Amino acid sequence: MSILVTGGAGYIGSHMVALLARRGVPVVVIDDLSSGRREAVPKTVPLLVADVADRAQVELFLRAHGVTAIFHFASRIQVGESVVRPRLYYRDNLGAAIALLESALEAGVKEFILSSTAAVYGDPIAVPLVEDHPTNPVNPYGETKLAIEKMLASYARAYELRYAALRYFNAAGADAEGGLGECHDPETHLIPIVLQAALGQRDKVTVFGRDYPTPDGTCVRDYVHVVDLCEAHFAAKDWLDKRGASGAFNLGTGRGYTVLEVIETARRITGKEIRVEYGQRRDGDPPALVAGAARAETDLGWKPTRSSLDQIVTDAWAWHSARAHA
Ligand code: UFG
Repeated sequence: MSILVTGGAGYIGSHMVALLARRGVPVVVIDDLSSGRREAVPKTVPLLVADVADRAQVELFLRAHGVTAIFHFASRIQVGESVVRPRLYYRDNLGAAIALLESALEAGVKEFILSSTAAVYGDPIAVPLVEDHPTNPVNPYGETKLAIEKMLASYARAYELRYAALRYFNAAGADAEGGLGECHDPETHLIPIVLQAALGQRDKVTVFGRDYPTPDGTCVRDYVHVVDLCEAHFAAKDWLDKRGASGAFNLGTGRGYTVLEVIETARRITGKEIRVEYGQRRDGDPPALVAGAARAETDLGWKPTRSSLDQIVTDAWAWHSARAHA
């Protein structure tokens, strides 16, 4: 009996694998290493380097390891790229999920936890965003995640499958002690970019837009610590085991910070200068995304404990600076 983590060599997936392994839960990984790092997967964890859409290999692997639950992290994640290259997102997010669920059902897997996103909501008509807010994604990234959620809901009604769709807000932070952190190529996420500027690896941070209807004119986001996101997977798995139900949950803190607040926090915590320039708004950026996270607390018993902005930036900085000086 084991858990399959797809994308286990990636940013959030590798944190999940580390936590499962630390707690003695049998875990196996599938990752095609297109963006993940092999060294992020402990040597003791079985790793299949393959596309999750590879039906034959995946089904064999699921059976060989007696997989009973899948945590599906493997995904393309860049909103901007999804607008100009939507085929990649329909193929690698939706197409791959269809194939993975085929393999899962054939191999008798009964639990599925999806890494979903706040991008399923589209432009908020009310903040904080609760799970019943209309879902009208404004980019192909959000569209493909929503399509997977709908597929899961239909499959759960028709087949012996239970699922949780975890709608992450802004994942950030690191498990620096475990040698894990956030690193994308190219990097588009705010906190890594700000810390790269603090390290002198880039000369400035461009703030995308300063005329939003927010306290300082810059976008508000709800940052949630990567380890808290992983803890939510344990809670969701427990809920699937005990309740036999399925559903979608927001994972956020209910508290938002502006881009300038993030930069100011990073200046204070790193003690470094971080140069800022103001640029145009970035296409597809809603002014404010803040989670209504009551459902995850009430139903899953999940409450973030490491997601203060100070903690997130402190942990991310520990990882970025250790890596820079390695
Ligand atoms: N930002 C800047 N400058 C930068 C990078 C980002 O000002 O160089 C701003 C963005 O405009 C945004 C905020 O910082 O207002 C956060 O941006 P990120 O790129 O870090 O994160 P997003 O909010 O765009 O995206 C995140 C996830 C997506 C998910 C989305 C939900 O990374 O996967 O939330 O809408 F889809």
